[in-house]
Amino acid sequence: MGLFKGRDILAMGEFSKEEILQVLAVAKEMKQRPPGPILQGKLMASCFFEPSTRTRLSFESAMKRLGGDVIGFSEPAATSAKKGESLADAMRVIGSYADCIVIRHPLEGSARGAADATTTPVINAGDGANEHPTQTFLDLFTIEECQGRLEKLNIILAGDLKYSRTIHSLALALKHFDARLFFVTPPSLPLPEKILGALRDAGVPLSFHSRLEEVIGKGDILYMTRVQKERFNDLMEYEEVKNTFHVTPELLQAGKPHLKVMSPLPRLGEIDTRVDMTPHATYFEQAANGVFVRQALLKLILGGP
Ligand code: NCD
Repeated sequence: MGLFKGRDILAMGEFSKEEILQVLAVAKEMKQRPPGPILQGKLMASCFFEPSTRTRLSFESAMKRLGGDVIGFSEPAATSAKKGESLADAMRVIGSYADCIVIRHPLEGSARGAADATTTPVINAGDGANEHPTQTFLDLFTIEECQGRLEKLNIILAGDLKYSRTIHSLALALKHFDARLFFVTPPSLPLPEKILGALRDAGVPLSFHSRLEEVIGKGDILYMTRVQKERFNDLMEYEEVKNTFHVTPELLQAGKPHLKVMSPLPRLGEIDTRVDMTPHATYFEQAANGVFVRQALLKLILGGP
């Protein structure tokens, strides 16, 4: 059994396969048998320096459903960051107010910086274009739920591979599960070298494509991401790629019957709303699973019974 009590959750590379499976097993219990107020008296600080709907609210829902309480902010302009306070100072102080800190911040490496500044456990809820490990736990949970297994699946990772922190973390985790990965992206949004190198070192079979049509028939999972306007310095570059992908029921007809479409959401134009009516759509169940998986992580870190 992995040791989670008091631990930071910063990046997927820090978790063994056994530890990942342990989190998923606890999440399954949370979903099947809601445990009641096991985190009563515990306080989670929810520090969102970037916009969020699902991650913030599912963390807060998870904490409250386990009987814990939440302090925090979703608008950094209302904090001393606006006055120029460093992240390290803010985290040191907030760490003395709460039992764990959930942080989303636009800078890569910010979650690790936060963890270095406080002894209170820090959970990375997305650090710029780097990683989003708790999303990966919920993605793996959903993959297992909809495919009946995690091993030996063909996974298509599509959209903005350069800036998608959810794809970075998920790809790193999939190296434990004998997956075959198909990457589909415009040439200007390639997977970062750091992630690619880790996958190659682990011997993960992978291939690169520019059109979904090339791979749609092969996938068990199509993991579709939004092109993230806020990460582009050059908006002309964004305009060129923003409409590259559009998943439709017609496209999915060429897929296997059990192909499931996942997305960390939010959705812009990359998944047609008509897909929602097909048996392939899994993204809303995926979003709902965020609560159970975050309950599991909070229980393990805060040491609930
Ligand atoms: C993603 C994120 O913020 O990285 N959403 C999420 O957390 N579920 C993806 C995105 O914003 O496109």
